[in-house]
Amino acid sequence: MARERIISGETQRGDTDVSATTLRPRTLDEMVGQTRIVEKLEIAMHAARQRGEPLEHMLFDGPPGLGKTTFAHVVAREMSERPLRITSGPALSKQADLMPILTNLERGDILFIDEVHRLPKVVEEFLYTAMEDFRVDVTIEGGLRGRVVNFNLQPFTLIGATTRAGMLSGAMRDRFGLQFHLDYYGADDLRTILHRSATRLELGYEDGALDAIALRSRGTPRVANRMLRRVRDYAQVRADGRITQSVAQEALNLQGIDDLGLDELDRAFLTALMQVYGGGPAGIEALAATMGQERDTLEDVVEPYLLQIGFVVRTRQGRQATKAAFEHMGLAVPKGTVGGDASPTLF
Ligand SMILES: Nc1ncnc2c1ncn2[C@@H]1O[C@H](COP(=O)(O)OP(=O)(O)O)[C@@H](O)[C@H]1O
Ligand SMILES: [Mg+2]
Repeated sequence: MARERIISGETQRGDTDVSATTLRPRTLDEMVGQTRIVEKLEIAMHAARQRGEPLEHMLFDGPPGLGKTTFAHVVAREMSERPLRITSGPALSKQADLMPILTNLERGDILFIDEVHRLPKVVEEFLYTAMEDFRVDVTIEGGLRGRVVNFNLQPFTLIGATTRAGMLSGAMRDRFGLQFHLDYYGADDLRTILHRSATRLELGYEDGALDAIALRSRGTPRVANRMLRRVRDYAQVRADGRITQSVAQEALNLQGIDDLGLDELDRAFLTALMQVYGGGPAGIEALAATMGQERDTLEDVVEPYLLQIGFVVRTRQGRQATKAAFEHMGLAVPKGTVGGDASPTLF
């Protein structure tokens, strides 16, 4: 179920079809929001160009769907004649997987490693000298002890992306000269993204429809664009293609998405926490067992947003539902519930 959630920030089928790829920004100018990252990148790229040097290695971290891969493509487009080379942590199980990629790099090429926190230790360590000295040391079996052969590499730029910066070793993290943390987008930025997408897709829409989508898209551009495509389908079949505010709301209601962007899985989490555990604190394992879900699913795709909007807080004893969460779910707020009279932060 979690994999198919419309509100998931992770890539799904349909995100890579033609309409989706046309929505991806191609230049730094087209990136909406994340202004501090854009500015720092502009300076770094300008300086590297002036010196005629490759860019420093850079790391993008943040939740799925916020633009890490897009930034990597944009940087490659602006800095290199050649296309971005793309691989990922799980695809590199041993040194031999990485070796041909590294030795084929030309001066100034950009190598993108997605999910860099999932690199096996041996591969990660092999990368250290490549990143630092543009050199790899390969042990060749044979003779009494084997021989170490050094290969020199062309100076290149490694761009790493991760949703779990905390799982990256300190040694790895330190080798990225530039580090960028992506945060959830505000409603204004999401609206801008949706306007551009709707224009590119040549849709007829009311502004209110895009507002309705922006408010439900959990601060995540990928989710916003996906919702827009679902609304487009609904409008085409049920409303002569006219995307009005009420059409957008109906389309998203049909997907089980409420006016804060919570779906059935989010509500099941809150219901379990409130009705089975009286609002908590409850441990994540206990909640997972109650719901019949994987703990990882809850930690990766349910909790981050509930924490972000202040519906759940994490304490030493476990997860606790806040007053705002009880109110949203239409349940009486028990005495002593955390959260005072806080209302959910809508970005
Ligand atoms: N800053 C942005 N401005 C406009 N659209 C964006 C931006 N960031 C992301 N997107 C949209 O969201 C989609 C998902 O972004 P992506 O870079 O694949 O996320 P990540 O790699 O962090 O999971 C992109 O294809 C693009 O359509
Ligand atoms: Mg990505």
